[in-house]
Amino acid sequence: MCSRGYLCFKTRSSSSRYLHHQRASLLAPRKVRSKRRGGLFSFSARACLTPEQETFFHTNGYLVVEGFASHEECATLRARAGSIVDAFDPATVSIFSCNDQENKSDEYFLNSAEDVCCFFEEKAFDAEGNLQQEKSKSINKIGHAMHDFDPVFAPFSRSEKLGAVTKQLGFAKPTPVQSMYIFKQPRIGGEVVPHQDSTFLYTTPQTVMGAWFALEEATLENGCLWIQPGSHLSGITRRMLLTDERTITFQGHLPDFDSTTFIPVPVGEGALVLLHGAVWHMSYENTSPKSRHAYSVHYVDGEAEWDQGNWLQRSQDKPFQPLEV
Ligand code: FE2
Repeated sequence: MCSRGYLCFKTRSSSSRYLHHQRASLLAPRKVRSKRRGGLFSFSARACLTPEQETFFHTNGYLVVEGFASHEECATLRARAGSIVDAFDPATVSIFSCNDQENKSDEYFLNSAEDVCCFFEEKAFDAEGNLQQEKSKSINKIGHAMHDFDPVFAPFSRSEKLGAVTKQLGFAKPTPVQSMYIFKQPRIGGEVVPHQDSTFLYTTPQTVMGAWFALEEATLENGCLWIQPGSHLSGITRRMLLTDERTITFQGHLPDFDSTTFIPVPVGEGALVLLHGAVWHMSYENTSPKSRHAYSVHYVDGEAEWDQGNWLQRSQDKPFQPLEV
C-alpha cells in the first residue's frame, strides 16, 4: 500500500525521501561528483550539443543525439526495469492507454505522480481478465517518478550530461517532473496516437521538454518514434486536466492529421531524442517479435509556473527537485 492507503507498487529500495538528498547527506560533495563522473552514468563530452544541433532543435522541435547513453548504461536500466517488474504484484492492476486515459484513470494512476508504478498493456488480458502472456511481457510502462525515487533511474535522470544539455537549451532551473519506462512489448506493444506532451504536462510559459532514450534499437518494425518536424511552432491545441473530483477531462481539439507529414525516427541503442513539449509525435503498434524499450524523462524549467490543472501533482513533502547544475 502506498502512503495514501491505495494499492500501489513501490520498489523495495524506493523511499519516501529523495534519493539525491540521501546521497547529499551521506556523501561529501566531492565524492558525489567523483562517483558521477567516473561511475555508471559518467559525463561525456558528446553530451554537449553543437550550435547546429541547438538550431536544429529550436527549428524542428526535436533532436536526435545518437550514442548519448552507453551500452552499459542501457543494459543497467533495462535490468533495473526487469527487477521492478519482477517485484510487481499483478493484483494491483492498472492499464495504461494513451488513447483513452479519460476512462482509464484511477487513483493508482494519479498517485504514480510520486511513486514507481507498473501499468499493463491494454491487450495483455483475455476476455476473462487473465494474462495472455507472462507478466514481464505484459507491462506497458513503469511510471512516473523514477527520476526521484528509484536508485538507478534517479542518478541517470539527473546526470551532469543531462544538466549540460538542458542548460544549453535554455533551462534556467532544469527540473525533471515525470519519468516513464516504456516496454513497447513484442506483438502487443500499443500504438501511441499523435500527441503533444504539453497536452499532459503544462507550464506557463511552456517549458516542457521530453528526453526519450532508446534502450534498444528502435526501428520501423518495432515501433520507433514518428515526428512532425516544426509542428511545435503552432502551439498546443489540447489540454488534459485534473478536475476537482480527481477525474480527467480534456479541453481543446485534436487537429486533422496528414500522416504524410510525420517522419519516422529510427535510432540505435543509446540514442537520445529530445522532444519539444509542443511537437506532435506518435508511434505505431509493435507487431514485431522484438521489444522496443525506452526511458523517457520530462523536464520543465523550475522558473516557470507549474499548472494546477496538470494531472501530475506532488505532495507538499515531495516537491519537484531541480537538477544540481
Ligand atoms: Fe509523448
